[in-house]
Amino acid sequence: MDSKWWEKKLYPLSGIFTIFFLLYLSFNDQINFSFPTVLWLPKMGFVGVNDTSFVIKNENQSEFYVNGWNSYWLMDESVWGSSRSVSEMFKRGASMGLSVCRTWAFNDGTGSNALQLRPGIFNERVFKGLDYVIVEARKHKIRLILSLVNNLPAFGGKSQYVRWADEAGTYGFSSNDSFFSHPVIKVYYKEYVKAIVSRKNSLSGIRYSDEPAIFAWELINEPRCELISSAPALQAWITEMAAYVKSLDKKHLVTVGLEGFYGLKSTQNSEANPGQWAASLGSDFIDNSAITNLDFASVHAYPDSWIPEADLVAKLKYLSHWMDAHINDADNVLKKPVLFTEVGSHLIANHGEQYQIDAILKTVYDKVYESAKKKGAGAGALIWQLLVEGAERYTDRFAFVAWKHPSTHKLIVDQSCRLRELNPHGLPNKRLHPSDICYYSSRS
Ligand SMILES: *[C@@H]1O[C@H](CO)[C@@H](O)[C@H](O)[C@H]1NC(C)=O
Ligand SMILES: *[C@@H]1O[C@H](CO)[C@@H](O)[C@H](O)[C@H]1NC(C)=O
Ligand SMILES: *[C@@H]1O[C@H](CO)[C@@H](O)[C@H](O)[C@H]1NC(C)=O
Repeated sequence: MDSKWWEKKLYPLSGIFTIFFLLYLSFNDQINFSFPTVLWLPKMGFVGVNDTSFVIKNENQSEFYVNGWNSYWLMDESVWGSSRSVSEMFKRGASMGLSVCRTWAFNDGTGSNALQLRPGIFNERVFKGLDYVIVEARKHKIRLILSLVNNLPAFGGKSQYVRWADEAGTYGFSSNDSFFSHPVIKVYYKEYVKAIVSRKNSLSGIRYSDEPAIFAWELINEPRCELISSAPALQAWITEMAAYVKSLDKKHLVTVGLEGFYGLKSTQNSEANPGQWAASLGSDFIDNSAITNLDFASVHAYPDSWIPEADLVAKLKYLSHWMDAHINDADNVLKKPVLFTEVGSHLIANHGEQYQIDAILKTVYDKVYESAKKKGAGAGALIWQLLVEGAERYTDRFAFVAWKHPSTHKLIVDQSCRLRELNPHGLPNKRLHPSDICYYSSRS
């Protein structure tokens, strides 16, 4: 066959083919197509604090009361690229008026989707998953609380850091409390924080430290000590690490990630604790939260786990007291906003209605609303945790798909709407367009 014939036909053909192939790549694989993303991301203001309230730092400094949720699994779900479940979760959250989502920005160790494989060594594929989560949040005008390490062993946690240090230096640590005090481990943690905070998002080109869709950095999820004698080490660790994050990033808020237990010192409030055990975990809500570089206090609420023997009436009474104690301390002692960053209840479904979680959420939501109405420190609450169809493998005893439970769904939307109405520049719900989620919200 004549080779000339091939040359003439193939060159133009291969050129056209290449163009189509490149176009296909850019639209199909957004991971490689980064620059234009930033052009269509919605504008958002950073969140600041004025007195005991959150404010959006735009021209109006409007107060910002939070109705939000947790979905710890977003980065894990995004490891292989864009994920329908992650996008759907933000869309569904926004459709309930939720404005803040708390999620894990860590996965340390040898798990299949680990972000940090060894101290300071990252899996870029997983990092791109986190990039995707942040861009999707921004697209849906959701702000993220990103937690930087786990106290618990799930996804590595502090015990993974202790193991790494031990492998590197054979220190023979006697307890995981070394995480809070050992200089080598503190350097590991700081290097990790630096890598996250200074990360340039591969999709948007925006550094995490410049990203308004990030609400706050959380130092550690639910810090506890094994020995009560480690309490001063925990206090010193929080002080050092909060200052470190602020030295890298002055635009974002910082919180601890506490469960909110009172130590033995805070005697006037220790009766708000769920039991004697809670004062022996080395944390103290007042001392820990008072540290200057922390912008707001964080508290969890799990009456079902903390006082499992109590009936629902007793749990609700306990919970009311727990909320009052923390809001009161945030108003009068700490003079900072307090966010209830995890509120969870075991699911006891009955004809599709979740009586128990509804009762627990209503108690928490009412306390937040009462405080917010007076511009008090009760700044919001986040459900632990929400799922979407297709993400069921991330379930736990507290997880649910909100729109499958009409009563819970209504409670969530009503809370979003009545908080939104407190915004001094917001429209009253009764004057909204019928397409607005709050148009039908039936509150006073
Ligand atoms: C802070 O809040 C107070 C009232 O609580 C208000 O008078 C003041 O203008 C606010 N400051 C800013 C910067 O928004
Ligand atoms: C740290 O915690 C892990 C997981 O709970 C445990 O297996 C390990 O023995 C602990 N390490 C030390 C030094 O106590
Ligand atoms: C600020 O408040 C004014 C008056 O209520 C409003 O028209 C404007 O849209 C607000 N701006 C922002 C950025 O919220």
